[in-house]
Amino acid sequence: MLAPLGELIAEARGQGYALGGFNTYNLEITAAIVGAAEEVRAPVIVQTGSGALRGAAASGLPALVLDLARAATVPVAVHLDHSDDLALMERCVGWGYTSLMVDGSAEPLAGNIALTRRAVALGRAAGLSVEAELVGFPGDEDDASLPGTRPATFTDPDTAAEFVEATGVDLLAVAIGNVHGFYRGEPRLDLALLDELRRRVAVPLVLHGASGLPDEALRACIARGIVKINVNTELRAAYCDALQDGLPAARAGYDVATLMRRATAAVQAVVTGKLRLLGAAGRC
Ligand code: G3H
Ligand code: ZN
Repeated sequence: MLAPLGELIAEARGQGYALGGFNTYNLEITAAIVGAAEEVRAPVIVQTGSGALRGAAASGLPALVLDLARAATVPVAVHLDHSDDLALMERCVGWGYTSLMVDGSAEPLAGNIALTRRAVALGRAAGLSVEAELVGFPGDEDDASLPGTRPATFTDPDTAAEFVEATGVDLLAVAIGNVHGFYRGEPRLDLALLDELRRRVAVPLVLHGASGLPDEALRACIARGIVKINVNTELRAAYCDALQDGLPAARAGYDVATLMRRATAAVQAVVTGKLRLLGAAGRC
């Protein structure tokens, strides 16, 4: 069933586990995320970034995501990931999304605060929770081959406290050494900084860029108060690899249905593993 993200976050926070926020681009990946959540009985977040909402997918993808979420036997929050587009946020509210992320990190602090306040007002009016980001992450949201265009950045605790106070956001995405896409070299998360952010910021914290982080790093983040963990690239990798592996056999009969099932199964295996790791499995 479709669920408000705020309720799922409150439950996860109280019980000491994290929710997985998984990005989708199409039917197969959406079915895999929802199927995985049902398989391990976990609440889950299906999220669409702006890059996925183009062309026919601009309204087609939200429609199919919401359809699968409503039909699910576990709670599914539907979330807009990384957007600085208030008009898109309004459309998401109208479609029935249960959560929004406003990303004003490309703006100077004052501009980010102004944009985030408008997004919070929009979300509040519709009863949705709003996640925001103070400092951007290196790497691209949709393409792991693109080099990071931003330098490695970290969330300053004083600024984070001021930002949360000034905007009234419900969730804050933190930059503690995390990147979008796979890590080049050993990932190094600043857990002492996360501890300090936890102390200074009252709202639940979100970790982006979880693809490629060792299990131990994710457990350490959850122990320090991270309640939402975003995973995208690992799902795309499983999807692309399954298509490539399955294509030679499928091509003989142009068997798209088998190819799609294969891709869905590969992504579902990744998501079930993450849901178990985050402690979300068996919660519903
Ligand atoms: O917003 C989505 C994410 O931060 C996912 O990052 O592609 O590195 O897993 P990732
Ligand atoms: Zn992200």
